[in-house]
Amino acid sequence: MSEIAFLLNGTPVRVGGESPTRTLLDWLRERPGLTGTKEGCNEGDCGACTVMVTDATGSRALNACILFLPQLQGKAIRTVEGISGPNGQLHPVQTEMIAHHGSQCGFCTPGFIVSMATAHLNGQTDHDDQLAGNLCRCTGYAPIIRAAKAAETAPVPDWMKTDADVICSKISSGGEAAGRGGQTAPLPAFRPATSDELAAWYAQNPTATLIAGATDVGLWVTKQLRDLAPVAFLNGIADMARIDHKGDSLRIGAGVTIADLRRAVAPLHPSFAELMRRYSSEQVRNAATIGGNIANGSPIGDGPPALIALGATLHLRHGETRRALPLEDFFLDYRKQDRKPGEFVEAVTIPAHAPGLRCYKLSKRFDQDISAVLGCFNLTITEGVVTAARIAFGGMAGVPKRASRVEAALIGQPFTLASASQCAPLMAQDFAPMTDMRASAAYRLTTAQNMLIRYFHDLAGTPVSVLEVRA
Ligand SMILES: Cc1cc2nc3c(=O)[nH]c(=O)nc-3n(C[C@H](O)[C@H](O)[C@H](O)COP(=O)(O)OP(=O)(O)OC[C@H]3O[C@@H](n4cnc5c(N)ncnc54)[C@H](O)[C@@H]3O)c2cc1C
Ligand code: FES
Ligand code: FES
Repeated sequence: MSEIAFLLNGTPVRVGGESPTRTLLDWLRERPGLTGTKEGCNEGDCGACTVMVTDATGSRALNACILFLPQLQGKAIRTVEGISGPNGQLHPVQTEMIAHHGSQCGFCTPGFIVSMATAHLNGQTDHDDQLAGNLCRCTGYAPIIRAAKAAETAPVPDWMKTDADVICSKISSGGEAAGRGGQTAPLPAFRPATSDELAAWYAQNPTATLIAGATDVGLWVTKQLRDLAPVAFLNGIADMARIDHKGDSLRIGAGVTIADLRRAVAPLHPSFAELMRRYSSEQVRNAATIGGNIANGSPIGDGPPALIALGATLHLRHGETRRALPLEDFFLDYRKQDRKPGEFVEAVTIPAHAPGLRCYKLSKRFDQDISAVLGCFNLTITEGVVTAARIAFGGMAGVPKRASRVEAALIGQPFTLASASQCAPLMAQDFAPMTDMRASAAYRLTTAQNMLIRYFHDLAGTPVSVLEVRA
């Protein structure tokens, strides 16, 4: 691709002569006056590096430590230095953080300020969710949440509204060249605008690394110091970032972010949407794509078990050849998927209706944590009898996997506490889970069995969420 152009705190910038896997955080921290953005974990977990990124679809908080420069093409970036006004006026969230004593050592504060200012701009008042990806070791969260609440009704400052208006005109008119040694040179990366362009290029470059949201790939660079060349960035492909409602189904492009997926499924599959709320943090959900979540083949990814329980169909593409398969058939073995060199995930289709779907994520923390066990249940019960069953688990095997013996045993039976209790032990025939730092094998098995009982109570209308149950 040619050099990258973006707005940085309102000023157009052109970058060339950089590695395509240089992170925004590293680049910022070598720019005089832009070191407010902090490096905490360098793996997307702490939010100290949060920046606000705006494009035609809106403004969102992202972690700069796992954001590569080419992902910023044509966008507007606001760092903590751009949150106060041009004459040094404080943003309302800054004023309230001071008033509510929301900062002690101050290391986390720039990240909090950017997350809070982005939420304020978007009118988001679910502060616990918005700030779950920002960690603070000393202040404690109560003063920070109080500050966010106090700023809710303050008007959005004028300078925070300008990015979306000026983004296209200013970027196309050029700007300061900010490459290494002042160079502006092409970057060795491919950034297709359509899935057709990607298909043609990837068929010719089958060993290339595809980079979607970079919430996995980013860590290959920051933690494993891997050289990923050649690379293709997928975040400019508009036709893969779409969700199409087609009759009774939804076709979800591989480039749809977890945040957008959550919004789209909320009215249709509320339990799936609630699961997506617990998928990492706002910053990670704003970057991570459902295509990346499927393609990485993780046995503990949150998307696949829910999609399998829904009966999802996966759409793969190699050049002009397309094929479709049930999502569960894609996962062959630990980190081994049914995907040929040069073939990519184009979309996934799910039914628009599945009233029986329930998803239960078990992790050590409520927010921002990887699942130890994820159970997704979708029974069809007709006149009191189970007529169809799809039960899928993450964290119970080397791949996301259906509980096929349990499903078979349930079909044809009334769904009662007795039948659920009778079938639950069959989980031990379906799964031989492992012991690791997240849970022991015995705990995983017991939990999976209990989830079936929980599902019975849930369908019966008994509160089962930790947010609903009271002692
Ligand atoms: C702090 C943190 C917390 C996380 N928490 C969770 C969590 O709670 N739940 C969870 O499930 N995951 C979690 N993850 C993991 C990660 O967010 C997901 O796996 C994510 O969905 C990956 O999507 P991505 O777009 O970022 O993929 P990328 O990192 O860009 O790519 C991941 C893999 O998929 C490939 N790929 C991407 N798109 C395609 C495509 N269209 N076709 C073929 N191959 C493709 C890439 O080449 C790469 O191999 C977390 C990650 C971080 C850093
Ligand atoms: S440095 Fe921790 S999320 Fe980026
Ligand atoms: S104020 Fe010290 S880490 Fe938050």
